[in-house]
Formats: sequence, structure tokens, C-alpha cells
Amino acid sequence: MDQLRQLFERGSFWAQGRNEADLRRMLAGSQAAVTAWNQRTLVGFGRATSDGVYRAVLWDVVVTQEQQGLGLGRRIVKTLLEAPALMASERVYLMTTNSSGFYERLGFEKVERQRLMQLIHSK
Ligand SMILES: CC(C)(COP(=O)(O)OP(=O)(O)OC[C@H]1O[C@@H](n2cnc3c(N)ncnc32)[C@H](O)[C@@H]1OP(=O)(O)O)[C@@H](O)C(=O)NCCC(=O)NCCS
Repeated sequence: MDQLRQLFERGSFWAQGRNEADLRRMLAGSQAAVTAWNQRTLVGFGRATSDGVYRAVLWDVVVTQEQQGLGLGRRIVKTLLEAPALMASERVYLMTTNSSGFYERLGFEKVERQRLMQLIHSK
């Protein structure tokens, strides 16, 4: 869990400041999670939530800077998409700020006709 916390801290801008207890809850609430390792070091992660029939969403796909460009991100996403809960879902969504080209190579397409909306709960 500490390695996951550190991966998010260093490799993401959206998942910084997460603590181990909440990360455990996050994993328990995910239907699929994939990790990539270099020996005993966590170098990549991705997870997904799914209702198992209609909708699934990919979250928190991260590869350490040193290991980027080697195909790990692609393997993580492909493995997530092969998880039973995702295979069973009619549609898979994701949100990305600057990696849309990466996901387009994996078959995702931009959706221009819909708008992402959010409600933020202060913790
Ligand atoms: C985005 C990320 C997960 C990609 O992982 P990676 O292991 O470097 O990607 P891969 O080596 O598997 O790349 C697969 C393909 O996507 C391309 N690609 C990778 N990152 C890209 C990007 N940001 N934009 C466009 N294309 C990208 C690669 O060139 C490669 O192309 P190819 O099919 O021609 O070989 C990784 O760069 C990362 O962790 N970035 C920081 C966190 C982040 O922004 N995550 C996305 C959250 S939505």
C-alpha cells in the first residue's frame, strides 16, 4: 500500500495526498485492479469500477516516469479490459486530461457530445 501511495504521489497529479486507509477502501470498491512490478518495486497501476452489465470506468492508470514508453501502460489497460466485470459491460468510460492519444491507440474514442460534470464533497 505504501508503494501504491508513492506511485500516486510521484506519477499523478490527481491522486496525491491519498492515505493508505482510503486507498484500501478504494481497492475494495473497485471491480478490477492491475499492478506492474519491476522485481519488488511497483512501477504501474490501473483500476476499474463496473456494474457488470452496462457501464464501467477506468481510473488511476499510472506508470512511473522511468518505465514509460515501454508498453506497460498498454498492457495495464488491456488487462483491465479483459477482466470479467469489464468484458461484461456494454460501455467503458474514462477521464483524461492529457493522455487521450494513449487511449485512442487502445480503441477509445473522444466523446464531444457529452459534458463531464462533477460535485465535490469537502472531506
Ligand atoms: C499515460 C501513461 C499511463 C502511458 O503509459 P506508458 O507505459 O508510457 O504507455 P505505452 O508505452 O504502453 O504506450 C502505448 C502507446 O501510447 C503512446 N502514448 C503514451 N503516452 C501517450 C500520451 N500521453 N499521448 C499520446 N500517446 C501516448 C505511446 O507512444 C505508444 O504508442 P505506439 O502504439 O505507437 O507504440 C503514462 O505515460 C503515465 O503514467 N502518465 C502519467 C499519468 C497519466 O497521465 N495517466 C493517465 C491518466 S488518465
